[in-house]
Amino acid sequence: MNQISSELKEKLESVNLNDVIPENSLDRQLYFIEKCKKEIAELKEKIGRPLYACVKTFGCQMNARDSEKLLGILMQIGYEPTESEEADFVIYNTCTVRENANTRVYGRLGHLHAIKKKNPHMIIALCGCMMQEPDVVETIRNSYKFVDIVFGTFNIFKLAELLDSRWNSEGQIIDIWEETKDIVEELPTERKFAFKSGVNIMYGCDNFCSYCIVPYVRGREKSRVPEEIVCEIERLVKDGVKEVMLLGQNVNSYGKGLAEPITFAQLLHKIEQIDGLERIRFMTPHPKDLSDELIDVMSKSTKICNHIHLPLQSGSDRLLKLMNRKYTKEHYLALVDRIRAKMPDVSLTTDIIVGFPGETEEDFEDTLDVVCKAKYDSAYTFIYSKRTGTVAANMEDQVDEAVVKERFNRLLETVNEVSHTIITRYTGTVQKALVEAVNDHDDTLVTGRLTSNILVHFEGGADLIGQIVDVRLDECKGFYYMGTRV
Ligand code: SAH
Ligand code: SF4
Ligand code: F3S
Repeated sequence: MNQISSELKEKLESVNLNDVIPENSLDRQLYFIEKCKKEIAELKEKIGRPLYACVKTFGCQMNARDSEKLLGILMQIGYEPTESEEADFVIYNTCTVRENANTRVYGRLGHLHAIKKKNPHMIIALCGCMMQEPDVVETIRNSYKFVDIVFGTFNIFKLAELLDSRWNSEGQIIDIWEETKDIVEELPTERKFAFKSGVNIMYGCDNFCSYCIVPYVRGREKSRVPEEIVCEIERLVKDGVKEVMLLGQNVNSYGKGLAEPITFAQLLHKIEQIDGLERIRFMTPHPKDLSDELIDVMSKSTKICNHIHLPLQSGSDRLLKLMNRKYTKEHYLALVDRIRAKMPDVSLTTDIIVGFPGETEEDFEDTLDVVCKAKYDSAYTFIYSKRTGTVAANMEDQVDEAVVKERFNRLLETVNEVSHTIITRYTGTVQKALVEAVNDHDDTLVTGRLTSNILVHFEGGADLIGQIVDVRLDECKGFYYMGTRV
């Protein structure tokens, strides 16, 4: 789903490559998009075949949204999209939240190198959060010389300019910014789904949870102005989007620092007014400042989905303090109660870290206790990963690996027990499902998403994709339902 406004199209058509390169960020990027388009057309003509580009996302939904922007630019300049890494342009949009995300990237680079040896036109690029770490860039510079372009999280909009530099110079192009200087939002994007889209409402994070590297690689928190967000969603809706996911590392602090103050709840209220938009999701809210105003807006809304992802991280007050989360177990559980009082049917999900430095059996049992009391529909569970540069990396008392593994398995068991019991609560009810795809394993079935974010599989064909239909939930199968369209 290539999204390019008519205004942008006109601007692109009026670019004159004989002019001096514009200074203004947007015009400058449009200039380079047109320049690359010409270069790609010439190359295609010369080798007599199309050129393919593959964008691989390693991280969270924000990275996925950035990848749509990267693919939007690549398609605008003339590459055909492909899932295969045997392509003419391959970019890894990396994540560094846990060490294993980094290991995966290094592991796969060797494979890319082998492909490149067979294709003289191949360009390999790396971008995203991992590239904001200086030691990673040094490693790429010294040991992965076959990588052509390296850039970070703050300048993804410069892709065409960097590609042009690569074509017109020798050696690696490395361009890492330390912070947001300017953001060009208006460039074309290529959405993965026609009917749903992520929308950034803010960038960066100021919370500095002691284990987390995100504030270091994504920079300071910065909200987009509401008019811009509403305008983007209106355009998406015109283009067929029914569901948006508002994205930010801590959406509750949306609006801080804007010239005209606005809360996240007020932003939701504005977005709710957009005609034709059917569903609103958001992630991630931080428990420390999830307001009663937000609970109120959600409970009255007909569009905001019946789901809150509320990362717990730990149930131990002692660890929560060391993690710099700024809430206690009691505060968290009271918040869950307030949410359930207004939205009895809400689906709660969470993130939990096991093995934070100094975690004792008692701390861990507090976490299990919250899992049982909060009754999550599902939980993402992570083994603590030491991230260089964070406060926790210097904490003593890193927990023994075997102990962490054992706790991790116990946590999974508890999460599964709790969620299998609670998730069945919708059995027999009729719910609205947004049909997302034909089922991977059985093409007589389609897969739809309930507002609670739970999936349901039922009989139907590809013509239903993108539609919201009523489905009776016949049987719960653990994390998903089998249903019948009614
Ligand atoms: N902004 C969101 C989440 C960002 S990262 C929030 O505040 O919840 C997504 C999840 O990764 C976090 O919720 C946390 O559970 C996990 N995570 C972050 N850093 C980690 C680390 N060093 N080790 C293990 N898990 C981590
Ligand atoms: Fe990381 Fe905490 Fe920011 Fe989430 S709120 S991105 S966990 S620092
Ligand atoms: Fe990973 Fe960056 Fe997201 S570190 S979790 S891709 S913000």
